[in-house]
Amino acid sequence: MSLCETRRINVMTNDSQLSASKPGTAKKIVIKNFEKPKLPVEYLPKTWDKLQEAVVAIQTSKNISTPLEELYKAVENLCSHKAAAQLYDYLQSLCEKHVKYNVNQFINSDTDSLMFLKLLDNCWQAHCRQMIMIRSIFLFLDRTYVLQNAAILSIWDMGLEMFRNYIISNPQVQSRAVDGLLQLVEKERAGESVDRCLLKSLLRMLSDLQIYKEVFEGKFLQATEELYAAEGQRLMQDQEVPAYLSHVDKRLNEEWERLMHYLDQSTKRPLIQCVEKQLISEHLCNILQKGLDQLLDENRTTELSLMYNLLSKVKEGLPELCSYFNQYIKKRGKVIVTNPEKDKTMVQELLDFKDQLDVVVMQCFQKNEKFVNSLKEAFEYFINQRPNKPAELIAKFVDSKLRAGNKEATEEELERLLDKIMVLFRFIHGKDVFEAFYKKDLAKRLLVGKSASVDAEKSMLSKLKQECGAGFTSKLEGMFKDMELSKELMLAFKQYLNNTMPHGKIDMSVNILTMGYWPTYQTWEVNLPQEMVEYQDVFKKFYLGKHSGRKLQWQPNLGHCLLKANFTSGQKELLVSLFQTLVLLMFNDADEVSFEDIKQSTTIEDNELRRTLQSLACGKARVILKTPKGRDVNNGDKFVFNSEFKNQLFRIKINQIQMKETQEEQTNTQERVFQDRQYQIDAAIVRIMKTRKSLTHNLLLTELYDQLKFPVKPTDLKKRIESLIERDYLERDKDNTNQYHYVA
Ligand SMILES: *[C@@H]1O[C@H](CO)[C@@H](O)[C@H](O)[C@H]1NC(C)=O
Ligand SMILES: *[C@@H]1O[C@H](CO)[C@@H](O)[C@H](O)[C@H]1NC(C)=O
Ligand SMILES: *[C@@H]1O[C@H](CO)[C@@H](O)[C@H](O)[C@H]1NC(C)=O
Ligand SMILES: *[C@@H]1O[C@H](CO)[C@@H](O)[C@H](O)[C@H]1NC(C)=O
Repeated sequence: MSLCETRRINVMTNDSQLSASKPGTAKKIVIKNFEKPKLPVEYLPKTWDKLQEAVVAIQTSKNISTPLEELYKAVENLCSHKAAAQLYDYLQSLCEKHVKYNVNQFINSDTDSLMFLKLLDNCWQAHCRQMIMIRSIFLFLDRTYVLQNAAILSIWDMGLEMFRNYIISNPQVQSRAVDGLLQLVEKERAGESVDRCLLKSLLRMLSDLQIYKEVFEGKFLQATEELYAAEGQRLMQDQEVPAYLSHVDKRLNEEWERLMHYLDQSTKRPLIQCVEKQLISEHLCNILQKGLDQLLDENRTTELSLMYNLLSKVKEGLPELCSYFNQYIKKRGKVIVTNPEKDKTMVQELLDFKDQLDVVVMQCFQKNEKFVNSLKEAFEYFINQRPNKPAELIAKFVDSKLRAGNKEATEEELERLLDKIMVLFRFIHGKDVFEAFYKKDLAKRLLVGKSASVDAEKSMLSKLKQECGAGFTSKLEGMFKDMELSKELMLAFKQYLNNTMPHGKIDMSVNILTMGYWPTYQTWEVNLPQEMVEYQDVFKKFYLGKHSGRKLQWQPNLGHCLLKANFTSGQKELLVSLFQTLVLLMFNDADEVSFEDIKQSTTIEDNELRRTLQSLACGKARVILKTPKGRDVNNGDKFVFNSEFKNQLFRIKINQIQMKETQEEQTNTQERVFQDRQYQIDAAIVRIMKTRKSLTHNLLLTELYDQLKFPVKPTDLKKRIESLIERDYLERDKDNTNQYHYVA
């Protein structure tokens, strides 16, 4: 890069130094004419000869023989004696003659283009230098005569006009000059280094002569447009989008440099707009179609930032980017959500996907609010493309994190994770599915004592409350309350036991669960050993003594026990479910029992019993042995106590069946949600019709969609309406089948 000095011209003359710069226009001032003595007749021609000699000396780069002071005085004298107009005319014709003569060197010259430009520049520089010196001699003329006559050009402007009229307006000179300048720019754009000072000087000349716009800018912009139109087409085909973008960036920077170094500032807007149009606007869709998905897939934040910056320069750039961004999220998100084979990893993938896009929006898209909102909209859209399942999986994901033994190291990490999950949760339509599964898992965590942290549980609860209101969490809070009350109750019960059964062999804890707060559990009737039944009775008496009139319903399927077992290798403690306990206790009295014996004795439901036996005889810790061997438990199978059982641990947890969700449980939970939704739809229909009395089908549907907080199809609503008509809550209008009336 070459720097141009601003040329200050210092001219040494015989007796004084003139530090001259190009003069501007001065204010008009009025000079009063004083009476002067008359001059001798020969004074004028003599004086004019001296002045002419000086001007010619300046024009031919010779020394001026008369002292400048004297020349200056002479001009002043002539002006004072009304010879100003004449003097001005003389001077003008002198300059005209010189400039006219000067053009000859350019006509029919066979110099190459660059030499031609240099020649022209020299001529221009000399002209300026000369006019400055001339003006300094004729300063008085400029300050009096010129100022008093609006129609007269200042000496400097007169010089410019001469140059414009006789040199640059010459068609041959002009076209060679402009073509030469354009060629230089073209060369520079092609990567060659060119003489920027020459460009700058000549373009300044055109500006000073006020013909920059007229003779240069139009052609320059046209050349620019043609170059970049072709280049854009070609590179868009040949290059990958990231390479293309960095090329566009480079091109724009180069043009800014051109503006800084030699182009006139008035060219800034049209030039930059032209480049942006040809390289960006014209290829907007192509850039986005070809490039955006890949950049997002590969998390190439640098290129994404560049894309945002470049597209922000053109009119439709950001709206289009935002729209493609939105489509990308929906496309990729849908794949994560709708493929059942990816259910196991869905929530983690959603969290990762959201994290990545957040970084993109924050870092690359400058936190642009339109993009922030578009990101939300896209998530909400795709996550609900598959009804219910994401809500269920989010609930289960939370469970896995809130359960003891999860991998999140610190409370803060867990807290941050829960916050992120809440963001996903917010997008879900049909939060009732989430609630049902969340509640089921929470119940297990509380009852089996497997919660990682009470603080985390409470924190999650308060987040849900904040998000969905107190109504959403009141039952969940009730569950926590039950657990706390039960704890207090147990203290009192222990004391009570100490008095009533001081020699009891069992240590029993009971949790009192308020119906309605907790998930609905199937009630099982099983045969408990006499010892346990006794304890149940004692507890019942104790509890009803405190709360008479309440009804206690035992839930044996939620119970778990700690058993002591003697093996050949020594004593162990087995942490098992109540059902497993009932099975194991049978081996206290018998060496070998059959499936049928166990079933009859315990009365555990068939499938449940098979599962229970499987966990004891076919799992990792086989404390009983099955004949014949095999994974499945069949009728006629026989079981014996495995006295040779070995394990490194003293306390062994045998496959906590309760923590694992069975398919049946999953289906039940889902069905309960759907059942509940039907009630809610029915209730909403009746509520609306009761106030409105009569509504068309479509209006009723509109109001229903306003009220219902879960996704539902019009055909399902239609079914509920039919059902209510059958049950005489509504009736169809006799003349218009699309109109319903409320039946009081
Ligand atoms: C012009 O003046 C300079 C210094 O005043 C002198 O050195 C030089 O010889 C002169 N040139 C001519 C051609 O008289
Ligand atoms: C994407 O890149 C950004 C910064 O370049 C980084 O902070 C972030 O972790 C990356 N995300 C993924 C998913 O790689
Ligand atoms: C049980 O009763 C005995 C004697 O009455 C007493 O020493 C013991 O502290 C009591 N235990 C509890 C848990 O109350
Ligand atoms: C089990 O073993 C312990 C200690 O080894 C012993 O005290 C206890 O009596 C044994 N119980 C039975 C039922 O054999």
